[in-house]
Amino acid sequence: MGFFWSDASFSLLVMVLCLAAVLLHYRREDRASLVNTVSFFLLCLFGQFVGGLLHALEYMRAADVTREVFVIGAGIAVIRLWGLLVFRIVLPAVRLRPPRITEDIFVIIAYIAWFMVRLRYAGLDLGSILATSAMITAVVAFAMQDTLGNILGGLALQLDNSIVVGDWIKVDDISGKVVDIRWRSTLVETRNWETVVFPNSQLMKNKFTVLGRRTDQPVQWRRWVWFNVGLDIAPTRVVSVVENSILQTDIANVAKSPAPNCILMDMDGKGSGRYALRYWLTDLGPDDPTDAMLRWHIMTALQRSGIKLSLEEHSIHLTKENEKYDEAVHQREVLLRIKTLRRVELFSQLNDGELNGLAERLRYSPFAKGNIITKQGDINSHWLYIIINGEAEVFVELPNGKRRSVRTLGHGNFFGEMGLLTGAPRSASVIAKTDVECYRIDKDVVEELLHARPSIADEISHILVTRRAELDVALQNLDATGPHKDLSQQRIEILATIKRFFSLD
Ligand code: CMP
Repeated sequence: MGFFWSDASFSLLVMVLCLAAVLLHYRREDRASLVNTVSFFLLCLFGQFVGGLLHALEYMRAADVTREVFVIGAGIAVIRLWGLLVFRIVLPAVRLRPPRITEDIFVIIAYIAWFMVRLRYAGLDLGSILATSAMITAVVAFAMQDTLGNILGGLALQLDNSIVVGDWIKVDDISGKVVDIRWRSTLVETRNWETVVFPNSQLMKNKFTVLGRRTDQPVQWRRWVWFNVGLDIAPTRVVSVVENSILQTDIANVAKSPAPNCILMDMDGKGSGRYALRYWLTDLGPDDPTDAMLRWHIMTALQRSGIKLSLEEHSIHLTKENEKYDEAVHQREVLLRIKTLRRVELFSQLNDGELNGLAERLRYSPFAKGNIITKQGDINSHWLYIIINGEAEVFVELPNGKRRSVRTLGHGNFFGEMGLLTGAPRSASVIAKTDVECYRIDKDVVEELLHARPSIADEISHILVTRRAELDVALQNLDATGPHKDLSQQRIEILATIKRFFSLD
């Protein structure tokens, strides 16, 4: 019994069971490997017991060899368990995630060290073993040149840090995210849900690109979104329309710094300018969806400014041939606008002729989700919007930088009237909560309307007073400096301001 079992054996057994319990709790996914390791350990204990039996039967040499073999085996199982604990639980807990190959290397070195220690303990000559193993290694290395190339490639990739798990790389026309660097190969998951296996030696021998990585900079990758606009529109105008809209908007996965920029890249000789919006993508996964989102922002920004994207030549011929069709489309659009205007309370008193005139002069203004439509404090935008589709949120910015929501506006609601009618700076900001389609009414149109129908000013003053009161509530801790005037007094004052501003009698 003493030959096979000692106090140390008992402590070892307890340690193995504790390690197994911890691993099983935190690493359910490694359960199969854990069960194999613990079974192997128990088998080695049994082997040592057999060694003990042989010893009792006085087969001394056989007993010694049997015990030594199984002690080595038990040690290997213990090393494996510690390897799992350190590399799969402890290091991830301190946010270190070394690739599997590092774990394997450490564990194998520990196996070899343990093996050597036991052999020496058993009295074997290490020198001759090393000489023989060197010979065997040379023969094996010769036979496995490719495999060794891959293994050394894997080691080199790890050591010089040229790729780490999580990097996005591009090799020829394949790009994807590195998910594992193994002994022989590196696994890359593409956006098409493919896993590409690159032999490590290939990565070592050939050029590859690590996307979005730059020394001392966050990971972000420059992308180009192309569009064409006729050169009859000044390029400086196109650039400023697109940049102003994009820079004011928070778009998911688009870096704030460096900021997106728009440039004229080429002129095609047929009167068309080729522009690129260049931006930095912060999450390298959704590349196409983010490009698409920016295209949508470019489209809506250009549409709002009345700038058309260049059409292909053959589409222009088609369009010219169909002028009647164009007229029909225009009439349909005007009818649709009149229908929308009828639902806006403000215009309920207008007759058909007036509505038709107004409909003709509306400007279609689409906004992409996230666009700031009006900016609090702005003094240069003199128009009001009617929402046809989508939702917009009115909010105020407090001096401490926080936003306070005032109201959400939807179909048929209008906004921007306070600045337009009184000449005051924009009292609040309005942001597109979803993609929003609006009609824009410019100051000269409103002016004509007010002269034709002064009663609209009266109606608007009611709405303005209520909205002002809501704004005051939103800003109450700042503006509550004195007692509020009563609402009717406020309305009279607002009406007087509107009349003065538009020179109404
Ligand atoms: P204006 O001040 O020109 O620009 C911001 C707009 O937000 C403002 O016009 C109103 O149209 C709108 N707004 C402000 N307060 C409210 C409110 N309480 N309810 C609805 N809209 C509002």
